[in-house]
Amino acid sequence: MDFVGSSIISVDQFDRGDIARIFEVADDLRTYAARERITRVLEGAVLSNMFFEPSTRTRLSFGAAFNLLGGEVRETTEVKASSLAKGESLYDTARVLSGYSDVIVMRHPTAGSVAEFAEASRVPVINGGDGPNEHPSQALLDLYTIRAELAAQGKKIDNLKIALIGDLKYGRAVHSLCKLLALYGRITFHLVSPPGLEIPEPLASQLQDAGHVVRVYNELETGINNVDILYVTRTQEERFPSQEEANRYKGLFRLNQAIYTQFCEPNTVIMHPLPRDSRADAQELDTDLNQNPNLAVFRQTDNGLLVRMALFALVLDVTEVVHDYARPVTWFTANRSLST
Ligand code: NCD
Repeated sequence: MDFVGSSIISVDQFDRGDIARIFEVADDLRTYAARERITRVLEGAVLSNMFFEPSTRTRLSFGAAFNLLGGEVRETTEVKASSLAKGESLYDTARVLSGYSDVIVMRHPTAGSVAEFAEASRVPVINGGDGPNEHPSQALLDLYTIRAELAAQGKKIDNLKIALIGDLKYGRAVHSLCKLLALYGRITFHLVSPPGLEIPEPLASQLQDAGHVVRVYNELETGINNVDILYVTRTQEERFPSQEEANRYKGLFRLNQAIYTQFCEPNTVIMHPLPRDSRADAQELDTDLNQNPNLAVFRQTDNGLLVRMALFALVLDVTEVVHDYARPVTWFTANRSLST
């Protein structure tokens, strides 16, 4: 795809060459994410960060990524604090905001809403998550992490074996990641969910039709054998018709060190898009895994900064000049250890 000036709404927009390009730019920007140098290449540019659903890392890492390229960030974080609460349409909001911004990141609870917003926007829009539908930047940072973790073990993405675990019905990060992985060669997908939270049927068929191996499991212990990566997810309780229904699923699958040791191959990489639900009735990813060197969740979040910087650099067409605006860092920074 031609990134310059384009909105990023769905991973369907990408082919393998596009992904390789994003990762190449991300690698090139590592020096700035690690605060070894600073760049002011986006000085004067404005990002509007519109988050109409809860978010910590997606919102803050998009903002930090833009700042690290020298740009400024404006934010709205709640529907009730914006004019959407007064009945303003997405169309009007988009027309207005695109006059104030050079790029917009938007998260919204309704599937398809970010695409609708982007239609009316005069500047590129990046999807920060639209309901249960898609979360492209998360899938890209997950794939970037998978690539790095596999490379450390001398493996490639082709022929990957991955278990996707938990709420596969509502989990948008899983939906986008599956579609991205489907671009590679012969992936084995273990789809591990409680009955009722299976991956949407069209997506399962898409994976099968593309020639991948798809196995469905309703128990954690059987689904996590013999894979390279475990991708654990939270029960997306905010998407269920009622809290009672969500409660029926919470806590059914809990990965901890004992289960990992008993059922997984040594060095199986553990991923999670975060946040993990650490409340007593959930705990899908136990904190007793925190010392396990195969727990990659904080490497994922570090990588999120790089991938989001790369998306901004590509969309705003500064990849070739970014180093021309660089200078040394003058303060103490602990982030030089970022390149984990
Ligand atoms: C995910 C999301 O919002 O879809 N979080 C994130 O962006 N890292 C996953 C989740 O909320 O469970």
